[in-house]
Amino acid sequence: MYLTWIFSIVVSVYALSIGISGKKHKTLSACIASSLQLSCHNATDISNTCCSNYPGGLLLQTQFWDTDPATGPSDSWTVHGLWPDYCNGSFGQFCDSTRQYTNITAILQSFYKAELLDFMQTYWKSDSGTDESFWEHEWNKHGTCISTLEPRCYENYVPQQEVAEYFQQVVDLFKTLSTYTILQTANISPSLTKTYTLDQIQTAIRQATGHNATVQCGKNNTLDEVWYYFNVRGRAQAGKYVHTNPNGLTTSCPETGIQYLPKYQRGVPVPDIPAPSAAILSTTFSLMMMVFSIAVASTVLSVCEDK
Ligand SMILES: *[C@@H]1O[C@H](CO)[C@@H](O)[C@H](O)[C@H]1NC(C)=O
Ligand SMILES: *[C@@H]1O[C@H](CO)[C@@H](O)[C@H](O)[C@H]1NC(C)=O
Ligand SMILES: *[C@@H]1O[C@H](CO)[C@@H](O)[C@H](O)[C@H]1NC(C)=O
Ligand SMILES: *[C@@H]1O[C@H](CO)[C@@H](O)[C@H](O)[C@H]1NC(C)=O
Ligand SMILES: *[C@@H]1O[C@H](CO)[C@@H](O)[C@H](O)[C@H]1NC(C)=O
Repeated sequence: MYLTWIFSIVVSVYALSIGISGKKHKTLSACIASSLQLSCHNATDISNTCCSNYPGGLLLQTQFWDTDPATGPSDSWTVHGLWPDYCNGSFGQFCDSTRQYTNITAILQSFYKAELLDFMQTYWKSDSGTDESFWEHEWNKHGTCISTLEPRCYENYVPQQEVAEYFQQVVDLFKTLSTYTILQTANISPSLTKTYTLDQIQTAIRQATGHNATVQCGKNNTLDEVWYYFNVRGRAQAGKYVHTNPNGLTTSCPETGIQYLPKYQRGVPVPDIPAPSAAILSTTFSLMMMVFSIAVASTVLSVCEDK
């Protein structure tokens, strides 16, 4: 009797674990067996670069605060990327010429990542080109340098599945790091008049994460980027991310007088007028066209008269 129960429980737990691991990420059995090392923490034991990211063991989740032009929601930072830096702070880039893609959207769709794409269309914005080309750049330059995402690291590899896993991981990590909330909690809010010190910003980030970040400023000392640093226990996709301190790169912000500008009201308050109705718009357009035609006609006439 008891034996039957125990047997059925064991069987169902086993089935469930196969179901979960098999569905979400086809886990390399070697990585389950190996004790999962925290990246950058044991230079003598990089036995399996499929289970632990090497040499890029320092993972940076980078975010933008774009104000000129503004992108994304006014109360959220946006995604820049996830970069595998070396533990000493330098980094590699464009690591695999055979996996440079120009069809990230199509790849994500082919892995049924509609929800992920939807999120990216709101929170992973380019301020200069198409979002698609920005995503391509991030994958081609940085994603291809993550050793645990290499095709050889998969059992039953499906081409480009690692691309879908990369984007999912970047977004999952980004969702745990609301810079807007972290700063707001320390009374650091977007303002056209207030300025903040670097120490105020670092202290706010330290209170939330236990570690500093790299804070970047653009023109006129305006806060525009934050880079969070992690070591990872296990694979970069679905591993455990552990906050750590910046390495290698220093801030481009001054110690004091940092501006944190609102996204959508540069300089002038947005006037509160109702949007004109379609009827008014089309009437205005017709009137403008009439005036324009009359102007053209009279110019043509006057030119003819001159001759
Ligand atoms: C580093 O890895 C080696 C080999 O696996 C192990 O013997 C050693 O205890 C590890 N050291 C630390 C500090 O984790
Ligand atoms: C940094 O680490 C990388 C990878 O381990 C290595 O190739 C490079 O030589 C190191 N650079 C410095 C300046 O130590
Ligand atoms: C994306 O591009 C690659 C390389 O050109 C191609 O092999 C793959 O089939 C494409 N994927 C989709 C879903 O279009
Ligand atoms: C963190 O930033 C503060 C400045 O706010 C600096 O004094 C401190 O040395 C930094 N700590 C680390 C570990 O980088
Ligand atoms: C910097 O600030 C000054 C004074 O507010 C302004 O006139 C100038 O246009 C700003 N420069 C840029 C590049 O935004």
